[in-house]
Amino acid sequence: MQVAVFSQKPYWRTFFDEANLDYGHQLTYFEPALNTQTVALAAGHGAVCVFVHDQVDGEVLLALQSGGTRLVALRCAGFNNVDLERAAALGVKVVRVPAYSPHAVAEHAVSLITALNRKIHRAYARVREGNMALEGLLGVELCSKTVGVVGTGNIGAIVARIMRGFGCRILAFDPYPDERLEEVVEFVSLDRLAAESDVISLHCPLTPETYHLVDAEWLKKIKLGCMVINTSRGALIDTRAAIDALKSGKIGSLGLDVYEEEADLFFEDLSEKVIQDDVFARLLTFPNVIITAHQGFFTQEAIGQIAHTTLANITAFERGQPLVNEVSAARKVKQAKCHS
Ligand code: NAI
Repeated sequence: MQVAVFSQKPYWRTFFDEANLDYGHQLTYFEPALNTQTVALAAGHGAVCVFVHDQVDGEVLLALQSGGTRLVALRCAGFNNVDLERAAALGVKVVRVPAYSPHAVAEHAVSLITALNRKIHRAYARVREGNMALEGLLGVELCSKTVGVVGTGNIGAIVARIMRGFGCRILAFDPYPDERLEEVVEFVSLDRLAAESDVISLHCPLTPETYHLVDAEWLKKIKLGCMVINTSRGALIDTRAAIDALKSGKIGSLGLDVYEEEADLFFEDLSEKVIQDDVFARLLTFPNVIITAHQGFFTQEAIGQIAHTTLANITAFERGQPLVNEVSAARKVKQAKCHS
């Protein structure tokens, strides 16, 4: 099948070209993200392959459909950037990669926790400058601390198990608690999780209900000095409220792999440019904040799986086989109810 691959980077191409030896699709790579300005590039391609920052709204879907595209193949799990209702109305199918090595993101979240706690980012810079002083690097032992996991799906469950291995007590909140996890976590209300956790790690999807889940009101409920980790989606946190909480010390440290306005920043080398986003620039000034640019998924294992699942999804569509990884407006509701 002719596939237009948007937001291409050399690492995507390496893994997709290798995986495609098993599938034989005609992949055309485009560096720009898919949006209203670039959608014309997709004309004549039966499928587009897109990632988290590609814009698949109603206008883009209409243009895709007019150009002959019948399949949007997401090479990621999240689908908050796709207008599913509009896709259904236009007869455009949407498939995704529901799970690809959730260990990749879970291990990254734990890396942020341990790095922030022992101030590895500061120690690294200091020692390279010949400063071997320890002042300011004091950490705590994670053993016996309380970790709150918000969302215990594929990734949150692994974070819970890893942190349990550190000897932590694990509290969790999920509207659809998984009883298989009850030997590892105690499911509690979101408020109790906020009040008792020393570390809070977010692993729920971005939905209208979870938009700005961490806002000024909620931050009043957390323990003074709590560490907050977000490797899920940027808009789970009201960044301005988080900055206020960092300034007051309510948030003791913050680890982010995602940011509300990351689409204009992440995945690009902006080191020669002046960052125009003042909120992001303010975040960069805190010594107790670590930001990584959406690299939680970025392991060899995960990208290999993403490439294979995406190409298999496209093959299934081409052959008229059942689309096991289809996302539709109806399934979105069902998944939310059934603990996706
Ligand atoms: P999942 O679908 O397996 O689990 C999500 C869990 O959140 C489910 O158990 C669901 O019941 C729960 N949930 C739904 N609404 C909730 C709410 N209001 N409060 C608390 N929990 C709620 O998803 P998975 O694979 O574990 O992914 C979690 C997040 O990680 C997603 O936002 C995804 O977009 C993000 N992600 C980030 C990556 C990165 O590179 N940083 C890569 C892959 C995923």
